[in-house]
Amino acid sequence: MKKDFLTLKDYSADEIEYILNLSLEIKKNKDKYCNVLKGKNIAILFDKHSTRTRLSFEVGINQLGGNAIVLDAKSLQLGRGESYVDTAKVFSLYIDGVIIRTFSQETLEIFAKYGSIPVINGLTDKYHPCQVLADILTLKELGMLNKKVKFVYIGDSNNVANSLIIGFSKLGIDITICCPEKYSPAKEILEYAESQKNGSRVYIVNNPVDAVKDADVIYTDVWFSMGQEMDDSKLAELKKYQVNSELLKGAKKEVKIMHCLPAHPGQEITSEVLYGKNSIVLKQAENRLHAQKGLLVYIWKVIQGNKE
Ligand code: CP
Ligand code: NVA
Repeated sequence: MKKDFLTLKDYSADEIEYILNLSLEIKKNKDKYCNVLKGKNIAILFDKHSTRTRLSFEVGINQLGGNAIVLDAKSLQLGRGESYVDTAKVFSLYIDGVIIRTFSQETLEIFAKYGSIPVINGLTDKYHPCQVLADILTLKELGMLNKKVKFVYIGDSNNVANSLIIGFSKLGIDITICCPEKYSPAKEILEYAESQKNGSRVYIVNNPVDAVKDADVIYTDVWFSMGQEMDDSKLAELKKYQVNSELLKGAKKEVKIMHCLPAHPGQEITSEVLYGKNSIVLKQAENRLHAQKGLLVYIWKVIQGNKE
């Protein structure tokens, strides 16, 4: 059976929990899983820059015994206008799966529809589910993935924020999004969270000082995602949403600071906070590898039953 990972919406809460536990198990027993992808060729097709996603998938696939093929979309015939429909059909003749980082979520959906191989979202303008899988894994490791934790995302309601909202609402955990009204999450994302009907809430607030009061975790991301132009008016509106030591005064003393990286120190977060003692950004980056291995093992061993 072909199983894609285009958004966290595609997976039930039980599946997400399963992948998190599997990721922790693989992290502890690396050697036990070294043949899961034996004989599999998996492409990493990127249309945007990447360090963590690219490296962690490449290393993860290799550690699982598979062969990772890293491709720059521009250097394929895609870059000369060949369609994603034909590309998906051709990839399916040689390749066993593909991780795609591109602009539009629809491109990924087209690939998944016309190809016969699993498609994993390595980031689109709309979602970044692999990042959030690693983020919730990081919180789980710290014993902070539960209803008692006050989790606040501050800044632009972008792809990372969308995936955080979906992931948290699936798991029945509250999340606060603090942003200027103009940069609020799309209605569609909030409606999806609402539809989970498990008692969790998404709070949308505009005042950062109120939002971080007693926060256990503060997460931020860039104000201008890849593909977006710098815009002075957005910069001015987001200025008071910077995560800095003054803002942190209202949060719990041991508040954890999260950022998916890359960061723009001095913009959405100060260097002092990004590299400070409460920061867990490198744990998040490290867990990209383990969460992705959990996802790969889930798709290829649990769903597809690859015999080692
Ligand atoms: N966080 C993240 O996805 O990083 P890269 O853009 O370096 O892959
Ligand atoms: N929101 C950021 C995340 C980068 C990992 C972007 O899309 O550029």
